[in-house]
Amino acid sequence: MSDNPYLNGNFAPVTQEHTLTEVAVTGSIPEHLDGRYLRNGPNPLGEVDPATYHWFMGDGMVHGLRLRDGRAEWYRNRWVRSPEVAARLGEPLPGGRKHRAGLNTLGANTNVIEHAGRTLALVEGGVANYELTDELDTVGPCDFDGTLTGGYTAHPKRDPATGELHAVSYFFGRGNTVQYSVIGVDGRCRRSVDIEVTGSPMMHDFSLTENHVVFYDLPVTFDVREASRTTVPPLLRRPAQLVLSAIIGKVRVPDPIAAMAADRGGANTGFPYRWDPRYPARVGVMPRDGGSADVRWFEVEPCYVFHPMNAYDDGATVVLDVVRHPKMFDADRRGPDDGPPALDRWTVDLTAGKVREQRLDDRPQEFPRVDERLVGRRHRYGYAPAVGRRLEQGSALLKHDLREGTTTTREFPPGTEIGEFVFEPRTPDSTEDDGVLMGFVHDKRESRSDLLILDAAGLDTVAAVHLPTRVPNGFHGNWVPTGR
Ligand SMILES: [Fe+2]
Repeated sequence: MSDNPYLNGNFAPVTQEHTLTEVAVTGSIPEHLDGRYLRNGPNPLGEVDPATYHWFMGDGMVHGLRLRDGRAEWYRNRWVRSPEVAARLGEPLPGGRKHRAGLNTLGANTNVIEHAGRTLALVEGGVANYELTDELDTVGPCDFDGTLTGGYTAHPKRDPATGELHAVSYFFGRGNTVQYSVIGVDGRCRRSVDIEVTGSPMMHDFSLTENHVVFYDLPVTFDVREASRTTVPPLLRRPAQLVLSAIIGKVRVPDPIAAMAADRGGANTGFPYRWDPRYPARVGVMPRDGGSADVRWFEVEPCYVFHPMNAYDDGATVVLDVVRHPKMFDADRRGPDDGPPALDRWTVDLTAGKVREQRLDDRPQEFPRVDERLVGRRHRYGYAPAVGRRLEQGSALLKHDLREGTTTTREFPPGTEIGEFVFEPRTPDSTEDDGVLMGFVHDKRESRSDLLILDAAGLDTVAAVHLPTRVPNGFHGNWVPTGR
């Protein structure tokens, strides 16, 4: 038992890969569910140093269930084969070394999506993303056919009107810029734009509306001291810190130097971003076809946002529903643990040049999702699991009705820990909320997990797929219908 919270309970990694067929089901899996539920999360392989390990830095492991004809045909979990993971498993590196895709040492541990017929394990911060097979084996690094190099993000948004992926990527070596990009339905980048920000922020997510791209330039920035502690020999640390302080967030670091620094740090270590009280907290609103000079910046109260729930245009305002953390990586470098995250609505008034901040629900919650057909459009419903300290999974799922201003709660029995739930409509034309919610729940007493399928309208259980094993606390998942 370690005193590192990310090595205990359901944060602890699993040590085996499984391929299970004909997984037991209670209830009945709706016939319209033909596809895969996939979810990514950190799962360090081998020994890690409990003194430094941070959850965000673990090797990636994707868990998946194939559902068809009311049956659960298989469950698989697979480490994403980064160079380090492949070496530790004694395997050749899939895809060979393809440095142009981004930094190679860390794991793609944050999200998993399908785009243009490819399953992609995603991560942020300049780290390489990986393409997987339908059965979750690693194909190799993904650089969108060579059209987008140097890393991507874990939170692209699919425009429901066009099917294109919009994204904002950050990386400490980019100087004082982040990158907005659009990946076409052919899986190739068709547009990328550098956007000037204040320094080197951790920009985990962004928002997309029908007319705008929204940037969250908030005061969590690259921490030269922590980064050099793990990447530079002790005698050189102070000079290295002075040099890095002078350039990070100001000028672009040549890719080979950035790659060398990051590769020395490796996966399964400390987290190199921290709260920066001198850094202004701002939201940037850019017309979709605009560039850096077209971004309008608006001050907000200092805070951190990992995840907007959704955003939309409303006349001369842009409405942003976000999970707001009062601070991040300040008192507790092993956070997220600097105060409870709550659901807020930020209304950006483009005429008055101000943001109105309003609390919608102060229960601690995270990993908010909406009906993906409404990304960038006005949504009525949003779904978010309750969380505890360090985003430890809680036992309640919150369903927000933002039109009525009410919240319905599905409480699970004590000892149940639930993660993110994703919505899938009953048919492509079903109304909002007519469909199911899917997510993993962990039973502490039995030390195993189920995939739970809920009726989105009433939050009642429709079916449970029973895994004999545990799915550790992780980040993001998605339903991938067959033939998308
Ligand atoms: Fe995220």
